[in-house]
Amino acid sequence: MRWSSALLAASSPLYPSRGSICRRCCWQAQIRRQHAGNPTLKSEKPYYVTSPIFYVNAAPHVGHLYTLVLADVLKRWHALLGKKSILCTGTDEHGMKIQQAAEKAQRDVRGFCDEMHQPFKELARAINVDWDHFIRTSDPDHRFAVQHFWLVLEEKGMIYSKKHEGWYSVSDETFYPANAVGWALDPATGRKFMASKETGKEVEWTSEKNYHFRMSELQDRLLQFYEDNPTFVVPETRMKAIVQEVKAGLKDLSISRPSERLKWGIPVPNDDTQTIYVWVDALINYLTKANYPFQIPGREDAAGWPADCHVIGKDIVRFHCIYWPALLLAMYLPLPKKVLTHAHWTLGKRKMSKSSGMVVNPFMAIDRFGVDCMRWYLILDGGIKDDAAYDNSFIIDKYKKGLQGGIGNLISRITKGKGWNLRKAVQQGQLTSTEELDQQFKSCLVQLPASVARNMENLNPGDALAKIMNVIYDTNVYLAQAKPWDLSDKPEENRLNEIIYLCAESIRICGILLQPFMPEKMNTLLNMLGIHEEARNFTNAQFGSDKDYGTPKYLLRGADGILFPGLSSDF
Ligand code: ME8
Ligand code: MG
Repeated sequence: MRWSSALLAASSPLYPSRGSICRRCCWQAQIRRQHAGNPTLKSEKPYYVTSPIFYVNAAPHVGHLYTLVLADVLKRWHALLGKKSILCTGTDEHGMKIQQAAEKAQRDVRGFCDEMHQPFKELARAINVDWDHFIRTSDPDHRFAVQHFWLVLEEKGMIYSKKHEGWYSVSDETFYPANAVGWALDPATGRKFMASKETGKEVEWTSEKNYHFRMSELQDRLLQFYEDNPTFVVPETRMKAIVQEVKAGLKDLSISRPSERLKWGIPVPNDDTQTIYVWVDALINYLTKANYPFQIPGREDAAGWPADCHVIGKDIVRFHCIYWPALLLAMYLPLPKKVLTHAHWTLGKRKMSKSSGMVVNPFMAIDRFGVDCMRWYLILDGGIKDDAAYDNSFIIDKYKKGLQGGIGNLISRITKGKGWNLRKAVQQGQLTSTEELDQQFKSCLVQLPASVARNMENLNPGDALAKIMNVIYDTNVYLAQAKPWDLSDKPEENRLNEIIYLCAESIRICGILLQPFMPEKMNTLLNMLGIHEEARNFTNAQFGSDKDYGTPKYLLRGADGILFPGLSSDF
């Protein structure tokens, strides 16, 4: 496609070129007409969370599963709070890495991507990600958004062309400065090669003409942005590292490769001898699915932008926390609010990674342990600050303690106990006892929702989950101490009902708060307690706020009554 500034003006409602005001007015009026009566115009900005878009060079592993679950838990949490929430995930299909993977597989690259993106979509489905957009960077709407972005950036004078020399890593899809590379040795073959000191990935010397982004000019604005938004990057340690890196100086960024070398990508508008750098292409995916560049005038945020949270691994922090905000600053577009950066899953102390082949097949893990067990386990044991070792035995131990012995045991004892009637206990529904044991337990339940919400707000789902699990364990301890099974005589009925009510409230509150983590299992649990569908929101997770439950939705007999059965390896 030949681009001209007239086309840019016509397709650029928000960023007109000089002398194009009338066109812009026409365009805006047209978009306004199209959206007249559109309910999103009046509604609040949705909470917008994203996962990285994954390279399709090889099949997904447990690391990708973890990021997907984190993003989905954030989305579902905000839905629990009653907000409209949007999640975008997808696949990164352009660049040298994919071009070479297709060549190696002796496949035509488009056919290769059509096939290789599927397992990522299947994985998102298998782990019950409630996504709104699954983007493929080879989609036409994305190509349009990227080329448009480029043209505007160029128009703002932020792109120039020059000869570039440097060390390029295809695996990391990035240039490294000379002081960031060194000799490395492949122990298997004895071959010496130049590699990135940071990632250990091979680099090759390249010398070519390409386009550059004037990133160095944005240093001050970027530092000001970090200062104004000190929690932009979570956790704090990575925020500090980013500020340090930017303070040390920003260089201009090479943002294209000669198309004779890189054929598989989005051509630079008006210069098809150059292909747009895969990271610029990839980062813009977050805008594409927020309707860029076709946002509704006056309601640019209706489709989600700015993102509320990008969830990423620590391997791609520089791209998301420096390059991406710099590009957006240059475009005068709003910046994402937060970037949640997590640590890695390791196998034998090494990062689980597609390129090293050190991976755990996520589909097999889901089959073996179940969807919700995997979601729960990954959040509970997964690292945000520090890496976490992956081992089946850890999952089995945690399952037995937390799910089978914790939640499963509790719901079974309370709903199936022979000596009491759950519905009656809920109807009585009050705590007259002033005993410390009861009062302490009650206050733990009263405080739980706010404390979980605080952790979620601070992008710490692991601690939020641990808080809920502690209440589950406390409830089992409380039960063991209060001994309701010893109180079956008539005169003790009130006391008996009090104990059962406190435990039922604990399960109900925990069950509501656990929905984002284990949507299916918690649906069953809340059904087992007989909680009405419309009484399962965050506001319902308040002690004493529901007197209307206690009659299970279905008969809890046999296997149906067991929420977390033994794992198949136990049989
Ligand atoms: O970097 N532990 O794609 P990618 C935890 N296409 N998470 C892991 C992990 C591990 N061992 N290994 C991978 C790319 N991940 C780019 C992203 S976004 C605009 C473009 C997760 O296929 C983690 O989220 O290499 C990491 O950041 C991502 O997968 C990298 O996936
Ligand atoms: Mg990678």
